[in-house]
Amino acid sequence: MSTRSSKIQFKPPESEISRGVATECCCCVCTPIIMALGTCCCLVVLIFIILAIIAGVNIHACNKLSQKVDINSVIPTNFTYDPNIFSSLEFNSLNSIMTKSGKIYVQQSNSTSDTNVTVSVRIAATKENEAFVKGEDVETIKRITVERSNTFKGAFAWVGYLSLPPRCILAQVEVILPQTIPATTSIETDVNDIVIYSNSVPYSSKIKLTTINGEIDIRNLTVDSLNLNTNNGDINASISGITNELITATDNGKIQLNVTVGPSATNPKIETTNKNGIIKLNFNSSFLGGYNIKTDNGKITINNATIENVNENKKKEGKVGDGNGSLVVDTKNGDIDVNF
Ligand SMILES: *[C@@H]1O[C@H](CO)[C@@H](O)[C@H](O)[C@H]1NC(C)=O
Ligand SMILES: *[C@@H]1O[C@H](CO)[C@@H](O)[C@H](O)[C@H]1NC(C)=O
Ligand SMILES: *[C@@H]1O[C@H](CO)[C@@H](O)[C@H](O)[C@H]1NC(C)=O
Ligand SMILES: *[C@@H]1O[C@H](CO)[C@@H](O)[C@H](O)[C@H]1NC(C)=O
Ligand SMILES: *[C@@H]1O[C@H](CO)[C@@H](O)[C@H](O)[C@H]1NC(C)=O
Ligand SMILES: *[C@@H]1O[C@H](CO)[C@@H](O)[C@H](O)[C@H]1NC(C)=O
Ligand SMILES: *[C@@H]1O[C@H](CO)[C@@H](O)[C@H](O)[C@H]1NC(C)=O
Ligand SMILES: *[C@@H]1O[C@H](CO)[C@@H](O)[C@H](O)[C@H]1NC(C)=O
Ligand SMILES: *[C@@H]1O[C@H](CO)[C@@H](O)[C@H](O)[C@H]1NC(C)=O
Repeated sequence: MSTRSSKIQFKPPESEISRGVATECCCCVCTPIIMALGTCCCLVVLIFIILAIIAGVNIHACNKLSQKVDINSVIPTNFTYDPNIFSSLEFNSLNSIMTKSGKIYVQQSNSTSDTNVTVSVRIAATKENEAFVKGEDVETIKRITVERSNTFKGAFAWVGYLSLPPRCILAQVEVILPQTIPATTSIETDVNDIVIYSNSVPYSSKIKLTTINGEIDIRNLTVDSLNLNTNNGDINASISGITNELITATDNGKIQLNVTVGPSATNPKIETTNKNGIIKLNFNSSFLGGYNIKTDNGKITINNATIENVNENKKKEGKVGDGNGSLVVDTKNGDIDVNF
């Protein structure tokens, strides 16, 4: 009965049918203003198609740039700073770059005498001499920005997607951290991937890595606490030792974590959240404590739990061995796979 009445509700009123001629012929919705101007809305559709083609040409040219230029042979712009003064590094490039543009590689210095952070930025542009690297100090943030000299900026940066001939910039950033870093050390970026390599001297700090449109790739890091956050991108991490807290979140992407909880961990807290995507967690028998795992649309597979208090398709709770650890895993759309 209710479906019937709702069908009736969706029937358009007479008045709309009578002035719907333009709508039907163009297969799109016209705004009253366009109608008033007497312009067919097909023009709007055509403009969108043209803009999409230009954007496509631009993105293609940007992708070609990375094949054409050997970014490693570019002379870098270097920055050196004391992390006790600037605990955050921000690298932004969306403001004037057209497309997802590069990676930030983070390594640990092999020298015990290094106390500063070194950042080297290499850029390549489709049109030479129009891109530059700028550094500024904003309170405790060392902000490095890649900019294009002759373009729209800020709120109009997206216009860059539509410029012909294409103008794009490719960036590669290398960050060398000293062996001792502040209690909380952050690296933030807008459209770049972050890759962090293994460290020979474990960090007794919290490292926070944040990107908006980028992937995060951790290759065997040993650290007290780690926060990984991206809006659109995969998180692929191998963590050789975590002592306190591991928080991982993406809105759109896959999360794959191989985690070894450090032997000195007393109250390890692990939280993994995804909105759209799978979560795979592998503890290699190092996690001891309670778990709380939930998916809205997907299925959960767990291996090697000792006590299962709740064992449903979309929700599992229980314990692994005897320990204080706490594991929370949550996704909306995706399967979850946990090996304790
Ligand atoms: C900039 O840093 C790179 C290493 O990241 C180094 O090889 C190069 O010598 C540095 N250049 C200058 C001018 O300091
Ligand atoms: C660290 O960087 C600061 C600022 O650039 C500089 O003044 C200082 O000399 C550097 N310290 C060392 C040990 O290189
Ligand atoms: C430190 O040494 C390792 C092993 O030799 C090397 O792979 C790594 O690149 C070095 N790190 C830096 C920052 O030079
Ligand atoms: C991390 O360490 C494990 C075990 O030592 C090793 O098998 C793996 O290849 C390493 N992964 C990376 C990305 O270095
Ligand atoms: C994740 O990392 C592993 C090990 O480094 C690698 O083999 C794998 O291809 C990566 N997956 C993605 C999706 O990047
Ligand atoms: C995790 O370990 C599995 C099996 O050892 C491996 O296939 C996968 O690439 C690893 N993933 C990461 C992110 O290191
Ligand atoms: C659990 O936490 C308590 C209090 O923080 C600590 O004394 C105990 O050693 C922890 N147990 C384990 C197995 O780490
Ligand atoms: C798993 O744990 C064993 C023993 O603790 C260790 O030897 C091995 O390297 C670990 N594997 C990974 C992929 O971390
Ligand atoms: C279960 O734990 C044992 C050791 O406790 C390990 O050998 C085995 O690989 C684990 N199984 C899975 C599926 O992780």
